[in-house]
Amino acid sequence: MSLLIKNGRVITATDDYVADIFIEEEKVAAIGKNLTANANRIIDASGMLVMPGGVDPHVHLDMPFMGTFSSDTHETGTRAALHGGTTTVIDFVLQKQGHTLSEALAEWNSRANGTAIGDYSFHMAVTDYNESTRVEIKKMVEEEGITSFKTFMAYKGALMIDDRQMVGLMQEVKKQGGMVTVHATNGDMIDYLVAKHRAEGKLSPLYHYLSQPEVTEAEASNRFAEMIQYTGCPGYIVHMTCEGALNAIRRGTTRNKKVFVETCIQYLLLDASLYEKDFEGAKWVMSPPLREKKDQATLWAGINQGLVQVVATDHCPFKWEQKKMGEKDFSKIPNGHPAIEHRMELLYGEGVAKGKITLNKFVEVTSTNPAKIFGMFPRKGTIAVGSDADILLLDANATHKLSVSTHHMNVDYSAYEGWPLTGKVKTVLLRGQVAIENGKCLLPKGYGKFIKRSKVTSII
Ligand code: URP
Ligand code: ZN
Ligand code: ZN
Repeated sequence: MSLLIKNGRVITATDDYVADIFIEEEKVAAIGKNLTANANRIIDASGMLVMPGGVDPHVHLDMPFMGTFSSDTHETGTRAALHGGTTTVIDFVLQKQGHTLSEALAEWNSRANGTAIGDYSFHMAVTDYNESTRVEIKKMVEEEGITSFKTFMAYKGALMIDDRQMVGLMQEVKKQGGMVTVHATNGDMIDYLVAKHRAEGKLSPLYHYLSQPEVTEAEASNRFAEMIQYTGCPGYIVHMTCEGALNAIRRGTTRNKKVFVETCIQYLLLDASLYEKDFEGAKWVMSPPLREKKDQATLWAGINQGLVQVVATDHCPFKWEQKKMGEKDFSKIPNGHPAIEHRMELLYGEGVAKGKITLNKFVEVTSTNPAKIFGMFPRKGTIAVGSDADILLLDANATHKLSVSTHHMNVDYSAYEGWPLTGKVKTVLLRGQVAIENGKCLLPKGYGKFIKRSKVTSII
């Protein structure tokens, strides 16, 4: 199967030009003006933006969490991602405390292999770092192509590791050429505040927000950055939300620390006033919580300053019935919100169309940087000869509204209901196959490939 995309405006993290793209055997085979290659199919992209497929490095599919499972499977989640122009996702494998990394990986493989429609990879979440876990790190990096190790400084009693384990893990991961990623909030402080609010009978979603003040994130981000400085291990902070945390990293850059920062689309666009909607606020109960308008301004600035390298989603959807597990107690609301489908269109509409970021920056933070940081570049994250033909055609002038009635995620509400946007994903290719066309997904269940990733030391 070969394909020729004609006359599109090709945007990468650095380029902007009109050209044709010839695709053969899953890869970009040629890029140039007036290509005459004999293709099975020609797509006229005149007037369209032609960009690399999105790479979302932070999604939770079919994940056991807080007494239930996130509601998108690898099939429904990657299909929804493709509808929104994201062709590759990185999902999280969670080690069970008292069990091995290999056992956890086998469990996730059995859920994702043969079901994912889009391409995917895994981060390994280390929730129990001990001598036997240490020995498994090398195997994950060398044999499984899993080079990033996720840690939680919060979710005490379930996922959290202490600083002793963190430093040990960093030393081993550095040795094996990987990266440590982190949910950076102070688990003990949060635990105290949750217990205090519950004891005072303060049980609505607003108290989820009030139990995780900015200082809990600023303190943990600073501590993580210091441990990265000490160990020399590359680090990555997931879902950063606020000024205090970003300032900790800003200070760290003066010492040339290797700490990458990810924010998520919701932290750029939504704020904590949503927690004042009584129990409806549960739709936005996530950790860390939404913050203030001043934090949004800091994060947009951080993107343009290069301090925030990635915009992800932390997609972790729960249906309304699941959210209602916490109707009488905010601490029982499953944490997370649905966004995998809308990251690209929201960032385009609110960022590029409104003049907050450039087109090149859009590609950089949604595709190129996550592919580079997580060892998939240049196979993923750009449009270049030899790269996978993961390509997105976006109509910059089309307008639309987001809604539960039109989205493809397996969740029965939208966190962005009625949100008007300029710019719509029209056609999506995954490894040269048309994945999305005329609003339909054309790829079968199981089309998605597991992407083994390179050592981090080779890319930074
Ligand atoms: O609320 C969130 N973020 N849920 C998913 C788990 C995590 O902390 O990333
Ligand atoms: Zn987290
Ligand atoms: Zn997450």
